[in-house]
Amino acid sequence: MDIKKLLSQMTIEEKIGQLLQCGPSIYRNFEEIRWDTLRSGEIGSFIRVRDPEMVNKLQRCAVEESRLGIPLVFADDIIHGYFTNFPVPAAEACSWEPELARRTAEVAAKEARVSGIQWTYAPMVDLARDARWGRNSEGAGEDPYLASVFAKARVEGFQGDDISSDTHVAACAKHFAGYSACMGGRDYNSVEMSCQTLYDMFLPPFKSAIDAGVATVMSAFHDFNGVPCAGNRWLLRDVLRDDLDFKGVLISDAGAVGQMQVHGYTEDERDTAKKAMDAGTDIEMATFTYNHHLKELVENGEIPMEMLDEAVERVLDLKNRLGLFENPYIDVEKANSIGATEQSIALARECSRKSIVLLKNDNKTLPLNRKSKIAVIGALAGNEDDMHDVWSGKNKNATTIYGALKANNYDAMYAKGYDLKTDEVFIEDANRVANECDVILFVAGEGVNYQGFMSGEARNRSDIEIPKLQQKLLKELKRTGKPIVAYIFSGRPLALRNVDETVDAILWSGGLGTEAGNAVMDVLFGDYNPSAKLVWTFPTSNGQSPYFYNHNNTGKPPIAEIWYSSKYIDAPIGAQYPFGYGLSYTSFKYDNLQISSKEFSIDDVLEASVEVTNTGDCFGEEIVELYVRDLVGSMVRPVRELKGFDKIGLNPGEKKTVVIKVPIKNLGFHNQKMEYVVEPGKFMLYVGPDSASGLETEFFVK
Ligand code: BGC
Repeated sequence: MDIKKLLSQMTIEEKIGQLLQCGPSIYRNFEEIRWDTLRSGEIGSFIRVRDPEMVNKLQRCAVEESRLGIPLVFADDIIHGYFTNFPVPAAEACSWEPELARRTAEVAAKEARVSGIQWTYAPMVDLARDARWGRNSEGAGEDPYLASVFAKARVEGFQGDDISSDTHVAACAKHFAGYSACMGGRDYNSVEMSCQTLYDMFLPPFKSAIDAGVATVMSAFHDFNGVPCAGNRWLLRDVLRDDLDFKGVLISDAGAVGQMQVHGYTEDERDTAKKAMDAGTDIEMATFTYNHHLKELVENGEIPMEMLDEAVERVLDLKNRLGLFENPYIDVEKANSIGATEQSIALARECSRKSIVLLKNDNKTLPLNRKSKIAVIGALAGNEDDMHDVWSGKNKNATTIYGALKANNYDAMYAKGYDLKTDEVFIEDANRVANECDVILFVAGEGVNYQGFMSGEARNRSDIEIPKLQQKLLKELKRTGKPIVAYIFSGRPLALRNVDETVDAILWSGGLGTEAGNAVMDVLFGDYNPSAKLVWTFPTSNGQSPYFYNHNNTGKPPIAEIWYSSKYIDAPIGAQYPFGYGLSYTSFKYDNLQISSKEFSIDDVLEASVEVTNTGDCFGEEIVELYVRDLVGSMVRPVRELKGFDKIGLNPGEKKTVVIKVPIKNLGFHNQKMEYVVEPGKFMLYVGPDSASGLETEFFVK
């Protein structure tokens, strides 16, 4: 399709139409759709049309009844699967296996594309630094390097080599930028951030997605240093377009353009349209300011026609790349018959078990003896919806924990224990079941039945412990004297100190999706030895958020005995479980850390090697993590920064040498003049099992 030629044939109304995405207010009721608007070419895209027949009906109207026949593009939030629900992104990232994320994104893309969705609003690449924020589970954790690796993998999985293929979709890196740093962890709240933090911490995952060819980017809801993102010219043009070299479509978040007026940044709808277009927002999702005012703004010369044309061209180009001009329709029969397959379910099980983190295992409580009689206690153990977390796809089926145990003939009894909806605790029943069994499997954490989801958009919490009623039940169960294994689900880092002090073993994960119950069962009995590691720091208590491992040292680092040091008087120093932490049923020993040289120049690649031995009695996989610290800088540097990792499998007694390469040019940061620099001087290097331990050595950059 000759896009330039098509553009030259378009009326201003048709151009503006390409920039309108019909959103929630319209899609809920298709009878409300103004078919005449579609016919006149004034709607460019739709969000969340999940009925394949309706996809074709809308498309037919646009293609066959509008003057130029420009196809629509259908978008949706395909975050961790459509028919096969994989673990939520942050859970999946705990596998530290980007290839796994690429494969699950690929399956999600295929399931969506066949169903009529050509564009997904994923991956979310926002860093998760504040446990209170509801959307931590949608990203890849708190670290910019790990999040960048996963951003690339997910974009590659969704998009493949060619987004016109009927198995891939256009991806969207969101939410640009700094969205997760909302004050108080309150979604949509203002963000105050230095440019250095933006560039060094929050932008790398976006850059990685852009370098991987992400077709679209979504701007965020909040005001960034006082200017709402959807109208933030500096952020969208100078940073995103110029610095990060993004050439694709930029869409606002749902309603975010219209909300600029609520922020107090624009006077009225007309002013809003002007500021959004001037700032560089191409598509306006779910509000109508362009539709109502852009024509007049262009005709008055307040918005240059070239600016409008550039935006429209990008949208047409996306549709062209998606192959929609040639293949606008979907095969409804195929769409209606698609579902999870044997392979996609096997992948979901593999991914889910690799997402489960073992946080504690006193006296080798786990794996469980297959002959044990197990008291499964907790509503979350038996409810399919609770297996998913937010943004699950069209198919909500899942194996539950109790369901999997029963289906596989394990000797298990179930007690609901609590009800998050009604706030009731059923102690007697739980005790009865516990007393009849050898071991208690206490399943708790965040569910979907506490005033709706407990994590997700706008589901922020000021209390990041497990709900009080679960704590109450756990205390009671402790009195039985039976060994307790806690399985905790959550969409955010939790403060698990109380749980840790009470139980013998803890497994944690985010929502696991379709194969949740089977995967948990695999881990409980040692059919899979847990290998996942945390991508968030778990604090010890509520008030420590935001808490992340790659913080600066301060002039008074925390020392318990020192009054004037940077600590809390009522919380321990250090995290409950640090970033990168996770245990195994076996144990690993790290020895003999070597680096290829003591001194490097900017163009060199450092090679660190370490010997890792499986010192336990079963096969296990270990994630080997490499961190650096730049000891002196013209800006103070974080106490540690992840710069590489590897994942290996070892049989009992086996030893492997792991080599991790780090280009020296990756050790830089933005200085006070906002120049990216790698400064000469001494660095520390750490290689180990998590961000708070490991072997160390030093090197110099000249
Ligand atoms: C969310 C986005 C999402 C959009 C469309 C918004 O409320 O912030 O992440 O893509 O809705 O569903």
